Amino acid sequence: AGGGDQHIEDFAFSFEGPFGTYDQNQLQRGLQIYTEVCAACHGLKQVPIRTLSDEGGPHMAEDQVRAYAAENFSVFDAELDDDRPAKPVDHFPANTAAGAPDLSMMAKARAGFHGPYGLGINQFVKGMGGAEYIASLLDGYTGEEKEEAGTLFYENTAFPGGWISMAPPLFDEQVEFADGHANDVHNMSQDVAAFLMWTAEPKMMARKQAGFVGVLFLTILSVMLYLTNKRIWAPHK
Ligand code: HEM
Repeated sequence: AGGGDQHIEDFAFSFEGPFGTYDQNQLQRGLQIYTEVCAACHGLKQVPIRTLSDEGGPHMAEDQVRAYAAENFSVFDAELDDDRPAKPVDHFPANTAAGAPDLSMMAKARAGFHGPYGLGINQFVKGMGGAEYIASLLDGYTGEEKEEAGTLFYENTAFPGGWISMAPPLFDEQVEFADGHANDVHNMSQDVAAFLMWTAEPKMMARKQAGFVGVLFLTILSVMLYLTNKRIWAPHK
């Protein structure tokens, strides 16, 4: 996908590059934005609430996660045949009420960067840009709207085609952070996009670490094989 005049800002995320890591505070702010704003229409049905305490993720204290689950969500329990407050073992609820797509994997389902000409060179240089796409989408409303076949569409410079049916969800100072962090639309867009990158790839930090250990191992192995080879052939030279 990708209209010709689609604009994706190349946000500088902390998790970019081979050694990039998630910013724990940013993920927690993103969670707060998701909970207070996005969860009204969207779900995160593939994400277990307990993973909020994972190292390499928001890394919240376990009792904090328990309180968060119970305060914010209720789930249907087949055994009770009734709703009950959510627990860490539950997943974030799905939400289909507004016809909005589930956001669990959205940062992997979309790419911010394309081309040129299908070669993917931009993706090679800048990354896939799933988080950049989401942040640019939230920050990309022009304020123009139109009605078509009874549905309101909002002009958006990041959305392919330019018109999206999601109303601008964020406005300045909408969410108050405990640490007083900046809460303009641009900052909040980046924070919630980082959080959604984590939901889509919760083990990214472990993956990068394993990759680094692998490369290190192969480097040492190569040096040793080279020296072994030298030694074996030395008498014949
Ligand atoms: C679509 C994110 C809040 C309703 C989307 C998409 C994303 C997204 C990434 C997919 C766009 C695509 O297909 O490429 C968010 C975030 C929110 C938020 C991060 C909170 C900051 C809301 C709210 C509503 C809503 C509060 C309802 C009032 C929708 C709808 C769509 C959508 C209806 C489908 C739009 C279309 O395909 O035209 N949202 N959203 N969203 N969202 Fe949201």
